Amino acid sequence: MAMVADRAAQRRAVAVPDDFDPAPSIQRLRSLEISVVDDVPPGTDAIAIPVDTSGSGANAAGLDEATLASLGFEGKPGQTQVVATGEGPIRVAVGVGTRALVNPAAIRDAAAAFALAARRQARLAVRVPRLGTVDPPMAAQMIVEGILLARYTYDPLKTEPTTTAVASIALVAEPEDQADVNAGSRRGRLLAGATMLSRDLANTPPAYLTAPRLADVATRIAGDTGLAIEVLDQADLRALGCGGILGVNGGSAEDARLVELTYTPRQDNGTGKGGRLALVAKGITYDSGGISLKPSDAVHATMKNDMSGAGAVLAAMSVLGELDCPTTVTGYLSCTDNVPSGTALKLGDVITIHGGKTVEVLNTDAEGRLVMADALVLATEAKPDAIVDIATLTGATMRALGTRIAGVFGNDDGLVEQVEAAAELTDEPTWRFPLEKSYRRQLDSDVADISNIGGPNAGGITAALFLEEFVGGLPWAHLDIAGTSQTDVVESWRVKGCSGFGARLLAELALAFEPPTRPA
Ligand code: BES
Ligand code: MN
Ligand code: ZN
Repeated sequence: MAMVADRAAQRRAVAVPDDFDPAPSIQRLRSLEISVVDDVPPGTDAIAIPVDTSGSGANAAGLDEATLASLGFEGKPGQTQVVATGEGPIRVAVGVGTRALVNPAAIRDAAAAFALAARRQARLAVRVPRLGTVDPPMAAQMIVEGILLARYTYDPLKTEPTTTAVASIALVAEPEDQADVNAGSRRGRLLAGATMLSRDLANTPPAYLTAPRLADVATRIAGDTGLAIEVLDQADLRALGCGGILGVNGGSAEDARLVELTYTPRQDNGTGKGGRLALVAKGITYDSGGISLKPSDAVHATMKNDMSGAGAVLAAMSVLGELDCPTTVTGYLSCTDNVPSGTALKLGDVITIHGGKTVEVLNTDAEGRLVMADALVLATEAKPDAIVDIATLTGATMRALGTRIAGVFGNDDGLVEQVEAAAELTDEPTWRFPLEKSYRRQLDSDVADISNIGGPNAGGITAALFLEEFVGGLPWAHLDIAGTSQTDVVESWRVKGCSGFGARLLAELALAFEPPTRPA
């Protein structure tokens, strides 16, 4: 037996150290110092000076308004101007736009613009502004999120780091605001940390983050953050009849894992809310398409991130305790890779999902919905108030909405509105698609209960209709993050590479969750 295992290990294409850490940002964040202070501390490398379109802010901070104007700086959102000073820190004027219109997202963007303008500086300071409708704690949260997310880099596999890490953030605030600013900065650190963790996991190459390794890192993080965890291995999945995840795993040299995480609120958190939310996620650690092999193109080359849904759920759940979330949250991460081999799922094969429904597999590249089906049925068995799933599910949704907006679907308007409200807070925009019932017949199968692909059009909708078959009529919403899981252009705090989209959104959703009440 050991011989067989050794041989399998020797045949792996990539030698991965056993102690490789797929979540380096956690360590990096531990050494970051965030302070709330009366004035810019000594040793600061760069100071942000928020300046609005009227130029106000500039003079107050010792910058010359006329000089800024002569340099073409107008205070537009995201605009920056580094002002050279002989001694001491560089000063960066950061445009925030029209004063009255400034909202939290604009402050996050302005902080990101500052962090990028001062990308070689490690010790940053920002005067917490009072702008628009944004109170100081919210501003502080946005500043910390914007800086940390904009300066995120994935470099554990580089022999030399090529970027400067942020070592400290000093938030300069009025004494009467400092306690609130401190609380806001703490939220910002936690939520940015969730996005960073989710980015780390998605950026990790496939050999470095197999399903067993993903389950291992989930176990470590659960232990560190007070989550209960149960990892279903290959034998458990067989015993439960999880034919979706086992089918997709059929061609793999690695075992599958289904990770169940549980967050239970403190008894005494006193909000009297106490809903129960299930989060279900696609955790395909690499999607080659299987026997329906993808072409070797740029999209295929992003498929290490096909576990972005799982990363988002794990990351969101890892901060619920620190954020004192009143909702009970269970997470189901359905993890395997999808590769071809002689033992792989074949076109025309029929698999049985946990709970008994049969699926005719007509395209092995529509694997996400198969691994999700088992997890959705498992989620329904615990009778939560609602299920929200997240998956890099369809190229069709990416085609429709691009890389900035995720598709949202659902059978419950109130629940979809809760998802949309969370997306608004985190500036991770969503757009709702209809669950057009008449398209359901595209999924009819001649030999099984349902087939795993619809026709050539409305692929995001037919995928969602497939998932709906497995939610047992519970209130359910589905996020298709195929497009938003990565980008190749830097825009504000959205860096190149894997985006971590959904981690903060799901955390905010859980924090504000109300059990949906349906019209009778
Ligand atoms: N993981 C892909 C979806 C995807 C595509 C994510 C592009 C990110 C970028 C998914 O498993 C897939 O292959 N979907 C197929 C479904 C089709 C075969 C019905 C697709 O969208 O082409
Ligand atoms: Mn696929
Ligand atoms: Zn996939």
